[in-house]
Amino acid sequence: MTPNESRNRALAARDLRHLWHPCTQMHDHAGTVPMLPIVRGEGAWLVDADGKRYLDGISSWWTNLFGHANPRIGAALKQQLDTLEHVIFAGFTHEPAIELAEELVRITPAGLDRVFLADNGSAAIEVALKMSFHYWLNQGHGEKTRFIALTGSYHGETLGALSVSDVALYRKTYAPLLLTPILAPCPDTYEAEPGESPEACAQRRLGELRTLLERHAHETCAVIVEPLVQCAGGMRMYHPAYLTGLRALCDEFKVHFIADEIAVGFGRTGTLFACEQAHVSPDFMCLSKGLTGGFLPLSAVLTTNSVYDAFYAEYNAGKAFLHSHSYTGNPLACRAALATLQIFRDEPVLERNRALAAHLAYRLAPLRDHPHVADVRQTGMIAAVELVQDKATRRPYAAEDRRGLRVYLHGLEHGALLRPLGNVIYFMPPYVVSEQEIDHLVDVAVAGIALAVDV
Ligand SMILES: Cc1ncc(COP(=O)(O)O)c(C=O)c1O
Repeated sequence: MTPNESRNRALAARDLRHLWHPCTQMHDHAGTVPMLPIVRGEGAWLVDADGKRYLDGISSWWTNLFGHANPRIGAALKQQLDTLEHVIFAGFTHEPAIELAEELVRITPAGLDRVFLADNGSAAIEVALKMSFHYWLNQGHGEKTRFIALTGSYHGETLGALSVSDVALYRKTYAPLLLTPILAPCPDTYEAEPGESPEACAQRRLGELRTLLERHAHETCAVIVEPLVQCAGGMRMYHPAYLTGLRALCDEFKVHFIADEIAVGFGRTGTLFACEQAHVSPDFMCLSKGLTGGFLPLSAVLTTNSVYDAFYAEYNAGKAFLHSHSYTGNPLACRAALATLQIFRDEPVLERNRALAAHLAYRLAPLRDHPHVADVRQTGMIAAVELVQDKATRRPYAAEDRRGLRVYLHGLEHGALLRPLGNVIYFMPPYVVSEQEIDHLVDVAVAGIALAVDV
């Protein structure tokens, strides 16, 4: 290869010969969309093989908290690498997992005293669904086999997780393979009645959930929600009163409350966990993504001693929980998680995020007046801009127009990784981003939006 040849192009060609990427129509990479080989990460930045830099405005699918190649997390991992890389987690344990469980119990809402480890977000959802079902079975309630999920929800893409997700294309495609959830209307503020406050919208939706529970509680194991922000469903946001009411309804109707904090946990919404803003403890809390600072796949399901006790019996009672992954409790991943949580202890992360979130809000505010922006919304370090064809009626752009893709491509050209969800341009940067870097993201997005709405 001569020095003038693009290393990007050479690597992309090799990639496309054998690899098959997630969430991707691979045909796009035949022309429209570049396949970008990243060789290095530095703080909030990614560097491609030709040396071009991209500000990671979406924390690499919402996983990264404290920067790429974070030296503290890296150092902890290097030490662990020389000690123990992995060990079977049945009948064996190790200090990184023990310490991690202790720390997770300490920092999560009260009552979540038991930790089950898995290795990605969807796996955590599978664990929570199975554990809830199996709890009721062990209690003599085998008739409870269904789950209530919210419209517009997303909980992952394995069959169980997809079963409690409400993403139209996925549901349509895989319908014959999925469980049928009971869908409750999401308290999404964007869909509120004209003049209705976010809190009133939450209360109205709780009324509808009550009606569903009156009809279905006898056959329902749990209600599963993404607290405060439905991320993959378009960064739709709702008032914490919904979670407070949900806790009360779950108690009243004897169904579990599963909080999927896989995307919103670890400071994303302004508090360490989103449930804190409603002052509630769920029966199950699923965590992943930011848990390892974006370094390694790991997830955790926290639950109560009362759930744990329903499985705890003499072996031949046959009550044990039936779930395992080969890499459960991987020591390297646990060590990365411990180093990540240590940063939360040592640094004023939430306070710093408040300042960054305020700056992001300030920079995005003018977009409210844009003729094709129906909504600018934000919860902590998650902000979203909803593009519409018609501002007065909020008529969306047709999905086939792929307006968001135009913003994505413009972003790549100008050194920003923004990866819109359909017509929703969103910002979810690593917490190490600076105000100047936020300015860069917003400037690129604004110019990208101008291109995207151009006919
Ligand atoms: C709320 C939520 N739950 C579950 C998942 C699934 O996690 P994973 O992609 O690690 O399987 C995601 C992923 O985006 C998510 O946003």
